[in-house]
Amino acid sequence: MPSIPVIDLHAQYLTIKDEIDSAIHRAIEKSAYIGGVEHDEFEKEFAAYHQARYCAAVANGTDALVLALRVMGVGPGDRVITSPFTFIATVEAITLNGAIPIFADIDSENFNLSAESVESTIQSLSAGERKTLKALLPVHLYGRPADMKGLCDVAGRYGLPVLEDCAQSHGATIAGRRVGTFGIAGTFSFYPSKNLGAYGDAGAVITNDENFYDRVSRIRNHGRAEKYLHAIEGVNSRLDGIQAAVLRIKLRRLDQWNTARRRLAARYNELLAPCKRVVKPPIVDGAVFYLYTIRHPERDRLRDFLVKNGISVGVHYAVPLHLQPAYSSLKLQEGAFPVTERAAHEVLSLPLYPEMGEDALQAVASKVREFERV
Ligand SMILES: Cc1ncc(COP(=O)(O)O)c(C=O)c1O
Repeated sequence: MPSIPVIDLHAQYLTIKDEIDSAIHRAIEKSAYIGGVEHDEFEKEFAAYHQARYCAAVANGTDALVLALRVMGVGPGDRVITSPFTFIATVEAITLNGAIPIFADIDSENFNLSAESVESTIQSLSAGERKTLKALLPVHLYGRPADMKGLCDVAGRYGLPVLEDCAQSHGATIAGRRVGTFGIAGTFSFYPSKNLGAYGDAGAVITNDENFYDRVSRIRNHGRAEKYLHAIEGVNSRLDGIQAAVLRIKLRRLDQWNTARRRLAARYNELLAPCKRVVKPPIVDGAVFYLYTIRHPERDRLRDFLVKNGISVGVHYAVPLHLQPAYSSLKLQEGAFPVTERAAHEVLSLPLYPEMGEDALQAVASKVREFERV
């Protein structure tokens, strides 16, 4: 039985093999392993792509968040509001700085933080707790932009700076403006499967604030002011030159790949139109479909049926963060975030990658239709 992967990184590599191979070769020839020209050029190009002033490349998307929160002054005892429906790294970045995550519920349409829920969560905090609130950390999940207008309005009313986790939304836009540029800074992961993925771990922080950029660039490199002079203590979170060389090649294709993702998502929606129980993602302006995620009332049965038929699928995410064993100390119970919990029971990501052909897409859709008997 043919198997359809949820993503096919090798298929993408084959479309850019010559350029990638020579870029890697070039980086090695120049011995530009850490820093160097590929690294510096990538930072400039990634900032320019966002019409942002600065980009500080780091070792991965988790570090991008950890360092950005640190620069925002988030420390022990502080609180940061975020979504319980995201990859754990978003919350790790808060706790690794010694701070406490405060969850608000998501919007049932786009799976991102609901501005209304953020506001009522802030209202429900005691005066003492409110004083420790340091930031709002929305995530643009699955390639769908969060409601940045609503979220920035609420954050503004309470004097909270906003940091955007864009790990799943490279190139996504709201009214033509790229995500990552609405708050004080935006963070990215270039984990290989992302819309813009390296060939290993990589990440970045973008910002228009010079001081923010200076602080991130210093902390990521052991707090160095000069070679062996350390103004502050930092970490080692630098981006490899080889990864930067790969990312430069791939950045040039990002818009074209995102367009292909949107086209495939729209095609899935067409083919799945007869499946009334399948809630299809809206093809909203600016969404870049990192994942094509549907909702289904019998998610687990549908997942098992597809897997049995050779179709790989993903569940992002079956256990929301407030119910993860790792966060049992927060003492949050089932029922605390009903919209998130319902999504966690219903979401299913079908195969989608820019190189996916019509045959594979039809094969997936026809199995979903077979399950639905339509
Ligand atoms: C929403 C979100 N935030 C942060 C990260 C962390 O990125 P990394 O794996 O590069 O550390 C990821 C990665 O999967 C993610 O999906």
